[in-house]
Amino acid sequence: KIPIWLDCDPGHDDAVAILLACFLPEFELLGISTSYGNAAAEKTAYNALSLLTAMDKHNQIPVYAGAQKPWVRDAIYAPDIHGHSGLDGTTLLPDPKAPLSTEKTYIQAMSDAIEAYPGSISIVSTGSLTSTATLLRERPCLKSKIKFISIMGGGICVGNRNENETAEFNIWIDPQAANFVLEDPDLSRKCILVPLDLTHKAIATKLVEQRVLSDGHSNLRKLFYDLFIFFGVSYEHAQGFENGAPVHDPLTLFPLLQFYHMKKPEEIGFCYRRFDLKAITQERSPDLGQTTVMKEYSQDSNEGTIVGFDLNFDYFWNQVYYALDVASQV
Ligand code: BDR
Ligand code: CA
Repeated sequence: KIPIWLDCDPGHDDAVAILLACFLPEFELLGISTSYGNAAAEKTAYNALSLLTAMDKHNQIPVYAGAQKPWVRDAIYAPDIHGHSGLDGTTLLPDPKAPLSTEKTYIQAMSDAIEAYPGSISIVSTGSLTSTATLLRERPCLKSKIKFISIMGGGICVGNRNENETAEFNIWIDPQAANFVLEDPDLSRKCILVPLDLTHKAIATKLVEQRVLSDGHSNLRKLFYDLFIFFGVSYEHAQGFENGAPVHDPLTLFPLLQFYHMKKPEEIGFCYRRFDLKAITQERSPDLGQTTVMKEYSQDSNEGTIVGFDLNFDYFWNQVYYALDVASQV
């Protein structure tokens, strides 16, 4: 199994990442940290605990409070996309049956997880990079023990902030933390970026929504159906997406299947290029938060960040249906 730590800000698409991280048999989810992002940190923490309760995983997966605010910028949330709770659109979220884990900090918890699986663990980051960058700034000796950092973030030819059309939300909310990871040569080559160029192809169409429900009946299916519907309406209003919302975050798991040789490249179909990237940090720049390409390497090089452009999306959706199936039976 692939040992992973998930740092997230749930979030409708983060919810799908949690589902797949919990139920795809190739992964061993060691813990979750929740950071500010789609909503304030206390809300994303509540959402993660509630989702784990809905999936009956609350006794197995510890959740820690991650980064509470960006390194330099003021915190900015995304109510236009995720609603004020960060996970609006359903009445089916249960009260959490387990609290946040408080016996250690998220820094200590992530550090312990990395020390338990040195060289084989990967961090999956589906919110800002603040938690991951803070961990590695405080404990630089952990850098060499992480296999990959798979990040939903950035855009090479696409952005999704109306204020700044060239930037992607997760990088834009803390570009300084993003650069800590992306500009460090020891870290950048461990990073797998899943940018908007790729995620905008993973649309939860009407067909997907129907499939989520029609494969069987369970509260969990109805919950995810509600989330997809709300997400689709938000994306239509806020970003002009007519066919459904792009389900960004769970895509971060799929390159790992390919790079850990759990699945054949033909099956996963992850296509990528290697770049040195830099996020624009100047507050007054019209390109604040943009991930700029500084240099390109050949694909077989060990240098630069792996940046994804394509994936086998049929495989991806089938894994979503599969995980819902398994989760609905528990
Ligand atoms: C990213 O921003 C958030 O709104 C989503 O959860 C995703 O992680 C997309 O830009
Ligand atoms: Ca997210």
